[in-house]
Amino acid sequence: MLYIGVDLGTSAVKLLLMDEKGGIVNIVSREYPLYFPNPGWSEQNPQDWYEQTMEGVKELTASCDKTQVAGISFGGQMHGLVILDKEDRVIRPAILWNDGRTAEETDYLNQVIGKEKLSEYTANIAFAGFTAPKILWVKKHEPENFEKIAKIMLPKDYLAYRLSGCFCTDVSDASGMLLFDVKNKCWSESMMEICHVRRDQLASIYESYEAVGTLKPEIARELGLPETVKVIAGAGDNAAAAVGTGTVGDGTCNISLGTSGTIFIASKKFGVDSNNALHSFAHADGYYHLMGCMLSAASCNKWWMEDILKTEDFAGEQAGIKKQGKNNVYFLPYLMGERSPHNDPSARGTFIGLTMDTTREDMTQAVLEGVTFGLRDSFEVAKSLGIQIERTKICGGGAKSPLWRQMVADIFNLKVDIIESEEGPGYGAAILAAVGCGEYASVQEAADKLVKVVKTIEPDPETAALYEEKYQKFRQIYPAVKGLFPILEK
Ligand code: XUL
Repeated sequence: MLYIGVDLGTSAVKLLLMDEKGGIVNIVSREYPLYFPNPGWSEQNPQDWYEQTMEGVKELTASCDKTQVAGISFGGQMHGLVILDKEDRVIRPAILWNDGRTAEETDYLNQVIGKEKLSEYTANIAFAGFTAPKILWVKKHEPENFEKIAKIMLPKDYLAYRLSGCFCTDVSDASGMLLFDVKNKCWSESMMEICHVRRDQLASIYESYEAVGTLKPEIARELGLPETVKVIAGAGDNAAAAVGTGTVGDGTCNISLGTSGTIFIASKKFGVDSNNALHSFAHADGYYHLMGCMLSAASCNKWWMEDILKTEDFAGEQAGIKKQGKNNVYFLPYLMGERSPHNDPSARGTFIGLTMDTTREDMTQAVLEGVTFGLRDSFEVAKSLGIQIERTKICGGGAKSPLWRQMVADIFNLKVDIIESEEGPGYGAAILAAVGCGEYASVQEAADKLVKVVKTIEPDPETAALYEEKYQKFRQIYPAVKGLFPILEK
């Protein structure tokens, strides 16, 4: 049998076709535009996601035996607000996970409703990118749109809805809305009231590996696939990536260097970060996880390479970097503000420590290090909770760079396990589809059988010691300059 995993990303949808033994049969990718209508805003058109996914599935399955396709599932960019009217028309462009417009609404939730109450209702506090503050923003700034809302959806759930007709979501993605009681895996009545949301505007909830329905007959016809193809709920992209890297069960860790950067720690037990810096979400394996998310990770490097240095030769630029742990230039990677651990939408990117002999390589190195130090900030929060991690998996575009992988090993002082398929969310989504179709008894069993570690990168003790010193300096920079960011913007 064959299973389709759809990774609905921020720059592109990546689709993966997997056989029942976990072999990757085909991968295709299709891009769509991302709009920044104001500084710190970030939007996309759900119709673009749908069209590119449909075209992508056709291309993906063009030369396979289509009668063998049994299931399709998703790993989707999280937290995005998609709103439909009663005719199922998209009311306004989706407001994405890295959109920072909701500073006021986030403050209202955290200060007026209060972090303690939010944490009690949802296991989390408000962050600007989460869905609930966006709903409050629409209510205040676009009341005519707010009045029209019949359905509130997350990005990947819009695809599931168009494909199956089922208004559904899964526990991992629902966790990032701040409307969901993560511990008890149900919508929070209190949060619905606070956000002026009715139950009928919210989707039915499934575990990530559960079937929500089958393809609509007209969709099956257009795709040339059987009407029996099951649509499986899927997961937020980080939970899907964790499944794809075998980060399931208890105490396992995955670092993702994608557009966003995340550190994801799977846990069989529900737990809340008392510092309110890490998210406490449900996992796609039926349990829970803690996660730190930085808003700009590999995207900082992409910006530096493509927009500033005007090059596409990322490997060539990295080849000149020789001074690992010995560079005095620092970079704060907050190009879209920052989520974990600072929760500061007004934070901005910053180079500091430049001198007349600073080179292009120094600055490229500072960008890669700055992102990795930023992720280490979340790792430190996890350590402060008594969580012990000795090794991690790694995925995302940035993880393809040998230099950056080694940097992760050295800056975190952790062993980094490289897995055979680095297709994170797409592979995880295909695994969820296989579990949902009964190919495997559980996500854990599927991950154990399908995910293979091919190599382990060890930290270099000398470089790790140098980076330890650098990290201690890095962590002093943000507190020293943070008061300036709101002033600079005016
Ligand atoms: C996680 C988050 C990002 C997006 C990226 O909380 O906001 O990782 O899911 O697609």
